[in-house]
Amino acid sequence: MEYRQLGRTGLEVSALGFGCGAVGGLLVKGDHKDMVQVVARAIELGVNYFDTARIYGDGKSEANLGLVLEALKADVLVGTKVRLLAEEMDDIENAVIASVEGSLKRLRLDRIDLIQLHNLVALERQPERRWVGVDNVQAAIRAFQTLQQQGKVRYWGVNGLGETAALHQVVASGLADTVQCCFNMLNPSAGVRAPEGFPFQDYGQLIDRAAEMQMGVMAIRVLAGGALSGSIARHPNAAQTVEPIATGSTFAEDVALAGRFNLIVQEGYVSSLVEAAIRFVIGKAEVSTTLVGISNMEQLEQAVAFANRGPLPTEALDRLSEIWTNYYDL
Ligand SMILES: NC(=O)c1ccc[n+]([C@@H]2O[C@H](COP(=O)([O-])OP(=O)(O)OC[C@H]3O[C@@H](n4cnc5c(N)ncnc54)[C@H](OP(=O)(O)O)[C@@H]3O)[C@@H](O)[C@H]2O)c1
Repeated sequence: MEYRQLGRTGLEVSALGFGCGAVGGLLVKGDHKDMVQVVARAIELGVNYFDTARIYGDGKSEANLGLVLEALKADVLVGTKVRLLAEEMDDIENAVIASVEGSLKRLRLDRIDLIQLHNLVALERQPERRWVGVDNVQAAIRAFQTLQQQGKVRYWGVNGLGETAALHQVVASGLADTVQCCFNMLNPSAGVRAPEGFPFQDYGQLIDRAAEMQMGVMAIRVLAGGALSGSIARHPNAAQTVEPIATGSTFAEDVALAGRFNLIVQEGYVSSLVEAAIRFVIGKAEVSTTLVGISNMEQLEQAVAFANRGPLPTEALDRLSEIWTNYYDL
């Protein structure tokens, strides 16, 4: 397993990180014995970063991860998140502190390595959608600083989802140590210049801007929530419906779009779309860790094997650029 710097934190994270959310679902809906086995195997294969959030399974993911890591006596890095409710936006500092206290209990930890603000970010807050404004991010970070002084968190990060202009402001402010960026073959605009007429949200190379600010970058939606498996079928542990992020309007549309990328499988550059998707993201040096949502042991083994194959060859990347340029016919 390759390890990369998590920006200016000084932490070294595995190039592949373990997503504990509901989309992969193992840590939310899985059987306890399976969770222990898969997490133990991930650690054995070198995975050292586990990403959860208070809302994943309404606390279940954090509680299960806490139990599993305790059972394994594992020494790994854990990141979790706070999502503010509309009614909490008038007293952000206290709401953040209360949420983190709950996360510490569920995770059975004295200290969280990385606490992240989960809310999407807009120029002006939109409480009805639970989107925070740029100045609300600053309030949340003041709470993270208090928690750091109390020894309850080590570093903090923000979500790279929301309005592009707002996200760039937050990144440029230098206030956060890390950012989670949506980056995949369907929408690569957080790490690749979007061609003219690009039909989805253009993140304006947010990953590159974050890396310039010495922020750690976590790539999310690497498999477009599973659409880049090329199949509409969902594993029983996984969320049965997936809302696309910055791609098509439905999961089925994303699965259909994923089919275009089969070209690089047919031309022999990779064995599968999943391999292409993981190696595409791993190939971006500014990404510190590539998070993949895991449903079972087989998906973990495959993700690690693909990550270990490293970046895609240049010829395959050229093919991807051609596909993005032809998105105008979507
Ligand atoms: N900051 C945020 O707001 C945010 C948002 C999204 C995600 N995240 C983070 O990113 C993590 C990953 O979630 P994601 O939504 O981005 O999902 P993702 O990694 O893009 O997709 C995960 C899905 O891909 C499929 N998959 C995984 N390995 C596979 C394999 N080897 N073969 C075929 N299919 C495979 C699985 O579908 P099946 O289960 O149906 O097989 C799985 O549910 C989350 O756990 C979380 O930590 C953060």
